[in-house]
Amino acid sequence: MKKYKIAILPGDGIGPEIMREAVKVLKLIDSRNPDVSFELEEAPFGASAYFQHGHPFPELTKKVCSSADAILKGPVGLNYEETEKIPVDLRPERGAILPLRKWLNTYANFRPVYLPKALAHFSPLKPEIIGEGIDIMMIRELVGGLYFGAKEVGVNERGLRYVKETLEYDEEQISRILHVGFKTAMGRKKVLHNIHKNNVLKSSVLWNEVLEEVARDYPQVKVVHVLVDAAATLLCLNPGQFDVMVMENMFGDILSDQGGGILGSLGLMPSACLGDDKAYYEPSHGSAPDIGGKNIANPYSMIGSVAMMLDLSFGMSRESKNIWDAMQNVFSQGYSTADLSKPGGDIKMIKTNEFGDRVVSELQKIPSNG
Ligand code: IPM
Ligand code: MG
Repeated sequence: MKKYKIAILPGDGIGPEIMREAVKVLKLIDSRNPDVSFELEEAPFGASAYFQHGHPFPELTKKVCSSADAILKGPVGLNYEETEKIPVDLRPERGAILPLRKWLNTYANFRPVYLPKALAHFSPLKPEIIGEGIDIMMIRELVGGLYFGAKEVGVNERGLRYVKETLEYDEEQISRILHVGFKTAMGRKKVLHNIHKNNVLKSSVLWNEVLEEVARDYPQVKVVHVLVDAAATLLCLNPGQFDVMVMENMFGDILSDQGGGILGSLGLMPSACLGDDKAYYEPSHGSAPDIGGKNIANPYSMIGSVAMMLDLSFGMSRESKNIWDAMQNVFSQGYSTADLSKPGGDIKMIKTNEFGDRVVSELQKIPSNG
């Protein structure tokens, strides 16, 4: 029997309610697989943790995360007024998410942009552009670049306020994420789209140099170089040409949100953040404080993050696929939640908890090894 400890960080806004549904799915997986057992331990993280414990990433949460085999994290952040009450460096992004990423050294962020038939009606793209569906794995470097480079704020010799933020990467940071990109491409269509901006940025020149070296280890993979601005356009015009895309941190932040845009919602974007020793899983979207507590947020991204955890942290690829299938089944039966429905659409509207219950009951119909 394998025992896995999972740290549960529900977060803020819609976090706790979508996390509840993800936990339902985890409990079913636990109960129907006699050879694994999950021990779930909840810990505070985010803006609510700041108000309750004085820090958005309290020591007690670090302890829970250190001893966990994997971490499931909900979105964090409160509304503008509440956020204003928190000192700038203790706001959940700078005070919790970025430190978590750095601390765990989760340098590889997997963001699937996945639009199977059952979800196609959510997309703003025309059916002829979507074709057979969209299935892209965006791989984003997560602990380097502008996000973590040296920063300086001050007044210059002309008396003007100025800011300086640096985009730093060394070749080791670049090569390890590129290896992840190539390995992922090897397991899929053996095509890797390298997203860069080498016509302007020196960081991209080094990135591409390192890529030529790493590519020698993967002769079967075809590399396609695309400038990041062009990639933004191509994602709208012809997303089907992409399979695995690899890019630095800031490019990945922006293009993955665009990925959510072409799916029709960031609510359809789960993610996995992997390091060599530790991993955490989170939706790519924010905490939507305006709809928090209303039981209308779709838990897809949180349950999808569970599916990614089972596959990537616990080697349970079959159950992972079963969870994806169960969610598609709920959508193909016409159900959705208010946050994920177009006005006038032909949708059977259900609440967050009902969506979770329906995923669980669909999952029960699929045998654990089937
Ligand atoms: C994301 C988010 C974060 C980021 C924020 C919340 C710090 O936008 O995970 O994409 O910019 O990386
Ligand atoms: Mg983002």
